[in-house]
Amino acid sequence: MRLDKFIGKSTTLSKAQTIEALLNNQVSVNGVVVSKAAFQVHANNQVALDGTVLVLRPFRYLLMNKPANTICANVDQVYPSALHLLSKENEDMRQSPHSTALLKEGSDLHIAGRLDADTTGLILITDDGSWTFNITLPSNDCKKVYRVGLSRPFHAGIIEQFEQGIQLQGETGLTLPATVEQITKKDVLLTITEGKFHQVKRMFAAVGNRVVSLHREQIGDVKLDVALGKWRFLTPLEVTSFDSKV
Ligand code: URA
Repeated sequence: MRLDKFIGKSTTLSKAQTIEALLNNQVSVNGVVVSKAAFQVHANNQVALDGTVLVLRPFRYLLMNKPANTICANVDQVYPSALHLLSKENEDMRQSPHSTALLKEGSDLHIAGRLDADTTGLILITDDGSWTFNITLPSNDCKKVYRVGLSRPFHAGIIEQFEQGIQLQGETGLTLPATVEQITKKDVLLTITEGKFHQVKRMFAAVGNRVVSLHREQIGDVKLDVALGKWRFLTPLEVTSFDSKV
């Protein structure tokens, strides 16, 4: 890991403050002053700031109920990033340990498994890249449950078609078996294990219907339980629930 990244992950310094500390010769690795941000820190290295040995803080794992008109990228485009909602005011106080200091600016949090700008519901946020890999790897069979609003009444015949797999335009194989449960005339719960681009919208378009609202309720065993725009930290059990899918 780069030295500037190590400092970012073990202190509350911003990127600019980290660079300043490096240039001021306040940082040492194994007792030797190092000012190069790109210096590679290895597992057995001891990094110190002003003589105090630094310890990497643990990875962070959160869930959020993403509102419409937000995007799942780190950089704002037409819409703001959902990551902007990670402030104290938006924290769900029922279950979170109030540790918003963990969400300091300049952090490398990212969203594991994107939703479209107009889709609402459950997103998982972390700075642990290998955890994200487990969740998003198709072979890990991680189920995602969506509540889908349709423009036309749902036909039961679609249940079998989705179970057998749908041919999406531009894809080589069929979609993996999906289950559909009808809720109302035009509302269904869809469970899929893949995450192809616009998958849910394309699946219903392929059978002559159109998605008018889309809300993700569950990923793996993690269920959405906070209000729109709110977030909370995952429990340790929720974090490890994705391990067995590897
Ligand atoms: N499928 C879609 O079409 N859109 C989403 O946001 C998620 C799944």
